[in-house]
Amino acid sequence: MSASAPVVGRNSVAGRWLPARDEFASRSPANLDEVVGRFPVATPQEAADAVAAARAAFPAWRRTSRIKRAECFDRLARLIDQHTDELAALMARECGKVLAECRAEVVEGLHMVQYVFGTGRLPVGEIVASEIEEKDAYVRRKPWGVVAVITPWNFPFAVPLWMLGPSLLEGNTAVFKPSEDTPAVGQRLFELFVEAGFPAGTINLVHGAGEVGEALVQNPGVNVVLFTGSYEVGRKIQQASANFHDRIVASEMGGKNALIVCEDARFDLAVTAGVLSGLKTTGQRCVSASRILVHESLIDRYAERFVATVKQLRFGDPLDAGSFSGPVIHKEHAEKVLGYNALAHKEGVRVLLDGGPADGRGCFLRPFVYRADYAPTTRVLHEEVFGPHVALVPFRDDEEAVRIHNSVEYGLSMAVITESYRKMRFFRDECEYGMGYVNLPSIGAEVHLPFGGVKRSGNGHPSAAGLVTAVTHPTAFTVNHGTEIKMAQGLTADIDGGGS
Ligand code: UN1
Repeated sequence: MSASAPVVGRNSVAGRWLPARDEFASRSPANLDEVVGRFPVATPQEAADAVAAARAAFPAWRRTSRIKRAECFDRLARLIDQHTDELAALMARECGKVLAECRAEVVEGLHMVQYVFGTGRLPVGEIVASEIEEKDAYVRRKPWGVVAVITPWNFPFAVPLWMLGPSLLEGNTAVFKPSEDTPAVGQRLFELFVEAGFPAGTINLVHGAGEVGEALVQNPGVNVVLFTGSYEVGRKIQQASANFHDRIVASEMGGKNALIVCEDARFDLAVTAGVLSGLKTTGQRCVSASRILVHESLIDRYAERFVATVKQLRFGDPLDAGSFSGPVIHKEHAEKVLGYNALAHKEGVRVLLDGGPADGRGCFLRPFVYRADYAPTTRVLHEEVFGPHVALVPFRDDEEAVRIHNSVEYGLSMAVITESYRKMRFFRDECEYGMGYVNLPSIGAEVHLPFGGVKRSGNGHPSAAGLVTAVTHPTAFTVNHGTEIKMAQGLTADIDGGGS
């Protein structure tokens, strides 16, 4: 991999860059000797200052015309478009996703920005009827105020834009904390916001890990926390936020997603969908499917073809166009995935492809594929692994497939491969999920659809088109055009005494 000059990270508050301090390095997971950038951990004071700056910028920003706010996103879109290649290459180096995926992610971020710009001139709110002829009634949405945006490393560009886009369009201001594993991409994204002309303080940047996120969550000046990451961290954010009476938390916290291959499935399509769902991004999407449920009549043939296909895949240098996928994000994560592989062995599954660490200076893992009959006690069939670890699980009939599908505590994305509209409808209605796919992989959402899940996968849809409900609150607004007061529900406006 070619080395480029390391990115110099800075925190930014109220439009000012804070002094650079060299406190942590971001390293390429494909080559741990390569330093992608160096970053300062925001101090508790800096995190508090960032919230205060966002608070100070809020009144002017919310009063700015919605169309003018949207136009900032038009400028941002042009900048992203100009810098697509550079951003994709930086992302590939920093998070280890292959270049084609990184380009697709930059495009996904761009789509979000274009969507936000495009919605700027669309009607908002509702006009509703009143019992009283002289009254006009409206539902209008207002921004909450300051939004803390805490984002993961696996989509370091698109996910922040899913959150920042609708938040800022609606008139909120923001403090952005990129993942400590992908601070360079976060830094570049922030710089583009600055270049696009967002007013000082409308978006502020703080780098660091959990302690910085915690400083934001503990700050009473934050109205909304938008979080995508692990269940454990999301849960802590929700618990800490219970102390604040007007705090909104919208979180997306992973999955144990499944692809369901019915007996009438188009076979080749089902194999491709399985490989993409299980192993694209090295299994490190929240929407990756680590469970492929296959009708018992197909499972032998499916397992054979799946394994043969996976053996051909190259998990290698993210900048090499021949790589299907890259490494996992860091050594500790590789250890976690290997721990689950070892657990699968212990739990008595039939291992078809034994994963393990691959050689080199990176965090490369070989895919681990196994066949396991469903049992409620098998942990590897229930816990999120977030890596190249895929179970093939046979089922007898559609009812059993639904039971297995819903046996986990997560419910993010679900895919079913079938030619039957009855089956499609059955799985659509009976499975618990936020995003459902038919004859497609479980990955590949588009920004103008809501993104989020149920159960442990989260609440409040912190992302993409659905976000507007989390970052605004509805207001009922009623205007009397008459010259005297008339009350609803038959109540008299009589104040001469006696009236109820
Ligand atoms: C994630 O899984 O962490 O749906 C985000 C997809 C992408 C976003 C995934 N558009 O696969």
